[in-house]
Amino acid sequence: MLEIKNCCKSFENQTVLQDVSLTIPGGSIIGVSGASGIGKSTLAKILCGVTAPDAGEIFLDGQLLVSEKSNYDRRWGLAIQMVYQQPYATLDPSQKIGAGLRELISYHRLTKNKQETEKLIADILAQMQLPSKILAHLPRQISGGEAQRVALARCLLLSPKLLILDEATSMLDVSTQANLLALVKAQMLPNGGSVLFISHDRALTDFYCDTVYAFDEDHRLKEVRA
Ligand SMILES: Nc1ncnc2c1ncn2[C@@H]1O[C@H](COP(=O)(O)OP(=O)(O)OP(=O)(O)O)[C@@H](O)[C@H]1O
Ligand SMILES: [Mg+2]
Repeated sequence: MLEIKNCCKSFENQTVLQDVSLTIPGGSIIGVSGASGIGKSTLAKILCGVTAPDAGEIFLDGQLLVSEKSNYDRRWGLAIQMVYQQPYATLDPSQKIGAGLRELISYHRLTKNKQETEKLIADILAQMQLPSKILAHLPRQISGGEAQRVALARCLLLSPKLLILDEATSMLDVSTQANLLALVKAQMLPNGGSVLFISHDRALTDFYCDTVYAFDEDHRLKEVRA
């Protein structure tokens, strides 16, 4: 479904991705692990079109998404959604959580009327184990773990083909984390969707993922467990 071929990326003479290739089959959970500062988030940002690769190509369902020569194709990019490591990054600081969700739903025409919209919001809050009072709060008035769950809710609403979780449950307690990871699996995999699970927690990654890759010291990505 997603194919990364020979991607390289450097920042000011510092190599961050060294000839990275990775295939993410439909219906799979792929783990990426590695030391802090090694390049995990950079790889994720390239997949989302936030950062451009210096070399290499990325294909989504056989279509070129981005390469060193061609810009990120936003039409296909919508099918790739990411929960960022900094959970407040995707939330407008001046917009209440509820207004942000309503805007997202109406912009993408996910419902037919107001009633359906409110039902969809109530359902997704329940799934994320979030209290409805947060709808009236600004991002700075919710906790880090709540912000992670709002960011995840916003991604899931768009039914992506690939969901990237970049340390996305790091601020949750163990039981909420387990519930949400199970929910993500149940929503993504049956429809042929995939998850790219980025974490420094190797035990969690080994437990949750079908295949696990890790960055070595030379910023090369290697399979460490199938
Ligand atoms: N825009 C940028 N400009 C310059 N250097 C950058 C930029 N973005 C990332 N880097 C550097 O690239 C390296 C890899 O960063 P990245 O965020 O990918 O690490 P990571 O593996 O996600 O680490 P962590 O586990 O701490 O989240 C780091 O040394 C970082 O300082
Ligand atoms: Mg990171």
